Parts: sequence; C-alpha cells; structure tokens
Amino acid sequence: MSAPISFVLARANNGVIGANNAIPWRIPEDMKRFKALTMGKPIVMGRKTWDSFPKRPLPGRTNIVITRDANWRADGAVVVHALDEALARAQSENPAEIAVIGGAEIWKLALPLASRIHLTEVHMDAQGDVSIPAFDAAHWREKDREDHVTADGLRYSYVTLERR
Ligand SMILES: NC(=O)c1ccc[n+]([C@@H]2O[C@H](COP(=O)([O-])OP(=O)(O)OC[C@H]3O[C@@H](n4cnc5c(N)ncnc54)[C@H](OP(=O)(O)O)[C@@H]3O)[C@@H](O)[C@H]2O)c1
Repeated sequence: MSAPISFVLARANNGVIGANNAIPWRIPEDMKRFKALTMGKPIVMGRKTWDSFPKRPLPGRTNIVITRDANWRADGAVVVHALDEALARAQSENPAEIAVIGGAEIWKLALPLASRIHLTEVHMDAQGDVSIPAFDAAHWREKDREDHVTADGLRYSYVTLERR
C-alpha cells in the first residue's frame, strides 16, 4: 500500500510563508515539531526551499529536491525533475508517511494528492514575498488544534487537517 502524503507547513494569518527565501518568524518550538514530524521520513521539497536551509541536507531524512534544471546537483540531495518522480522515489522507501515540506510552488502541485496537513498557524500578518491561500474547509476537516505562545508573545497554533 502506498504511504499517505502529508504537508508540514507554517503559515501566517495573511497567507505568508516566506520572505527573502527564509521563514519570516522565529518559533523554536515549531522547528522542533517540524523535526519530530519529519524525522526518518522522505521529505519532498522545491529547489528554492532546499536553498533556504542554512545547513543541508536535513539529517535523518531522504531529501528529495524538485528542479527543472537538468544540470542541478547538490551533495545530500536526491534530485528529481517532476513531482511524480519525487513521490515514486519517496514511496520506494515504504515510509509511514511522505512529508511534502514546501514551498508554495510544490504545495500547489501536490495539493490534490495530500491527505493530511500538519499546519502551524502563525497569528500575525507577516511581511513576505511568498504566500499560499487558506485551505478550503469544504475539503479539509480540522482534527486537532493546540494553541501556544512564544516567550516573545507570538501566538501560534498547531492544527491537523485531514481531507474530508
Ligand atoms: N513557512 C513554511 O512552512 C515554509 C516551508 C518551506 C519553504 N518556505 C519558504 O517558501 C519560500 C520558497 O517557496 P517557493 O514557492 O518560492 O519555492 P519552492 O516551491 O521551494 O521551489 C520552487 C522551485 O521548484 C522547482 N519546481 C517548481 N515546480 C516544478 C515543476 N513542475 N517541475 C520541476 N521543478 C519544479 C523549480 O526549481 P528550479 O528553479 O531549480 O527549476 C522552482 O524554482 C522560501 O521563502 C522558504 O523560506 C516556507
């Protein structure tokens, strides 16, 4: 049986997910949660998200990077040129779950195939240059919600969405 495809993402109230190829807020607990949710699983990402990591690859996970550039290579990255190729490579590990970790271009491509979204709602209007639309409640059911606040007073919520 094939593994379910999940998104792991953090999104501000106004839809922003990125600024200058970085994440426009700092929530250390969310970074720990990201690590816990993805560890041991294949992670699928766009080439810009790969470039955004200060250290790469992310250890303990097969880093599958999608690019249109036939010549692109990077140490520690499994390079593919289409989403279906990325997912086939990920499925070949027989994982419990495939984590699609962004960014906006890749989530848009993969949305019809996703069955679960590990969403961190960041309760601010962030400045940024990459955003994604809200998830349509007609298609997504909220399964869990946990509210938190950082030491600096930034409120955020962990929300698990499942496809209806
Ligand atoms: N908040 C979060 O949870 C989160 C998570 C991840 C990323 N981010 C942020 O999101 C931003 C990056 O997102 P993004 O949407 O700009 O880029 P992205 O989705 O990470 O990567 C886009 C790249 O993927 C490749 N690509 C896209 N569609 C393709 C297709 N159909 N076939 C083959 N290759 C394809 C292209 O690479 P080439 O140009 O090499 O051809 C394209 O430039 C950054 O600011 C990052 O920090 C935020």
